[in-house]
Amino acid sequence: MRYAIELAARGLGRVEPNPTVGAVLADEHLNLLGAGYHERFGGPHAEVNALSDFVDRFEDSGVRQELLANATLYVTLEPCCHYGKTPPCSEAVIGAGVRRVSVGLIDPSPHVAGGGIQQLKKAGIDVSSGLAEEAIRELNAPFLKLLRTGLPWVHVKWAMTLDGKIATRTGASKWISSEVSRQRVHLLRGRMDAIIVGAGTARSDDPLLTVRGLGPRTPTRVVIDSKATLSLDSQLVRTVDDAPVLLAVCESAPAERVDQLRALGVEVIVVGPADGRVDLMMLMQELGRRSMTNLLIEGGGELFGAAFDDGLVDEAHIFVAPKFAGGAGGVTPVGGVGVALIPEGSQLQGQVVEQVGDDVYIRGRLR
Ligand SMILES: NC(=O)c1ccc[n+]([C@@H]2O[C@H](COP(=O)([O-])OP(=O)(O)OC[C@H]3O[C@@H](n4cnc5c(N)ncnc54)[C@H](OP(=O)(O)O)[C@@H]3O)[C@@H](O)[C@H]2O)c1
Repeated sequence: MRYAIELAARGLGRVEPNPTVGAVLADEHLNLLGAGYHERFGGPHAEVNALSDFVDRFEDSGVRQELLANATLYVTLEPCCHYGKTPPCSEAVIGAGVRRVSVGLIDPSPHVAGGGIQQLKKAGIDVSSGLAEEAIRELNAPFLKLLRTGLPWVHVKWAMTLDGKIATRTGASKWISSEVSRQRVHLLRGRMDAIIVGAGTARSDDPLLTVRGLGPRTPTRVVIDSKATLSLDSQLVRTVDDAPVLLAVCESAPAERVDQLRALGVEVIVVGPADGRVDLMMLMQELGRRSMTNLLIEGGGELFGAAFDDGLVDEAHIFVAPKFAGGAGGVTPVGGVGVALIPEGSQLQGQVVEQVGDDVYIRGRLR
């Protein structure tokens, strides 16, 4: 099952809004007979890939039947039992003559929810479930969150100096982290459905927010911009044909400006009251409705602050560069209101600390 999880992880960024799934067929001594994973959205599921790998390895059907007598199919997620983009995996498993199946996690999707296991059992297959369930839940946390709450999984990423600044007192932030760290950011971006920045960052940095090199996804670039101030000449607008740009505005955004941006290909949505700011929760709900599974907020301090204050952040990616910016007027990563006492604040769990070039990359999930 551990190997099946490892295989499943290769689908990260490629299969969403589907879950990542891995499958391994092994004999009673845990010798590998076949393995596969769900490689891309719309493509064959893990079980089908593992079973076809089994056929490739053992071409003689007599040999296969003999091997199956003592084999178990380890699959990280319950086999599906419905016709979606591909036929049901439960039928493929039954048809192949598998006798034993170990399922990691029961698929909570309403169209499966135990139905796949029931079908297997009805066909006389010995099925157990729950092996390594926690690790599978962790790997599929974004998928599970979207299913449970309708909200995407929110990552935050920033680069800061050793004295905790994401920009100097003049607003300059180029470049705090090293080139290798920035390459890592592009890898991260490449598996996101959207990259989000605040109007302040759009104004001061004129960012491009595209993925350098080819990632598995082309994230939509989102700007949180109550009054639709995004420059018509910004890099974002000029590259709207390369990757979509979505502007989240308030009802009070000037209609003429909104029309100009729309005419240039920017999608503008109203997710905030006339007298206030963009409602981040409303925006998250809208992006969730679009089946966006992973979002990356890239700044700046005010937007990070609002996201933390609203409890929206699930995972953090922080690059710390061995530099000092100083200045009480420098931008700190997380603005907003914050907490009054340290125990009230969020905490990273299961953090990974990695040296990347001269920088330190800290990542983890929030609790
Ligand atoms: N080092 C890094 O990793 C990094 C990353 C990104 C940015 N930066 C730096 O950060 C600085 C910009 O940060 P910033 O704090 O000034 O601006 P910001 O967070 O990028 O943008 C804040 C603006 O977003 C708009 N907004 C609308 N609704 C909001 C809501 N619900 N919550 C929060 N903001 C909302 C507001 O403008 P409206 O009222 O006009 O809508 C607000 O002023 C720049 O100097 C940039 O270089 C550094």
